[in-house]
Amino acid sequence: MPFETLLTEARGNVGLITLNRPREFNALNSVLIRELARAVDVFEDDPEIGVLVLTGGLKAFAAGADIKEMAEKSFMDCYLEDFITVGWERVAKCRKPVIAAVAGYALGGGCEVAMMCDFIIAADNARFGLPEITVGTIPGAGGTQRLVRAVGKSLAMDMCLTGRQIDAEEALRAGLVSRVVPVADLIEETLAVARAIADRSRPMAMLAKESVNRAFEVSLSEGIRFERRLFHATFATEDQKEGMSAFVEKRTPAWRNR
Ligand code: HXC
Repeated sequence: MPFETLLTEARGNVGLITLNRPREFNALNSVLIRELARAVDVFEDDPEIGVLVLTGGLKAFAAGADIKEMAEKSFMDCYLEDFITVGWERVAKCRKPVIAAVAGYALGGGCEVAMMCDFIIAADNARFGLPEITVGTIPGAGGTQRLVRAVGKSLAMDMCLTGRQIDAEEALRAGLVSRVVPVADLIEETLAVARAIADRSRPMAMLAKESVNRAFEVSLSEGIRFERRLFHATFATEDQKEGMSAFVEKRTPAWRNR
């Protein structure tokens, strides 16, 4: 997959996508977003790949949407091209699990893309923020919605209204990230987590992801009903039979992804 702004690589059953505009702190321009959507398509379609990892550089995961590219856009430019919609939503719509491995700055659109992933593993030098207000706009790739769900109203308001950045430890305390690791270990540790998921039953991971995400859309009772139906449905799969038989027989399950 030759890309101008990304590096992509299959590491066994994990698809690794690295944002690669280091001189611009991985500012998310239209080429990068188009390529990111295409890279997700390719790994999503690849039956060898069970999990995707999205990362950037050591100094910046991504410092936001490309301000130089968007500065002169008019309302009508934004409206007619449906700015921030085409391509941007692709990560959030991936059915396979996607883990963000964040080192350095994850600001504005960078933080928003990280939040589109299923969970975030942060390097100890990571910094998260939605500083759009400091450049005269507001988050536009779901930041106000996903951040408040991740960390609650008070911190989300603080970050959106002041543009304050939080470090990895504060992000961990707030529940924005699931783990913090030394920056030097970020990729290998995230790949190990990804591999641990990809080595299990792929449909179970997809069902679990779908069910967790449902919690953001529906009431508790509807969410539980949805979960219960999916749980019942797993009993029609070969992998549920294999997983439980393997436990009873004290052996390692051989997942069939069926
Ligand atoms: C375009 C960017 C950029 C961005 C950094 N660069 N962020 N270019 N868009 N979002 C470029 C700089 O212009 C510079 O290139 C190079 O990257 C290095 O940045 P410096 O500012 O020189 O580095 P430093 O002093 O270390 O500061 C790093 C930084 C700062 C704190 C990350 O660059 C910064 O504040 N960036 C903007 C962060 C931001 O406001 N993001 C939100 C954007 S709005 P040159 O060639 O000039 O040297 C947004 C809207 C989202 O994301 C809406 C939906 C997606």
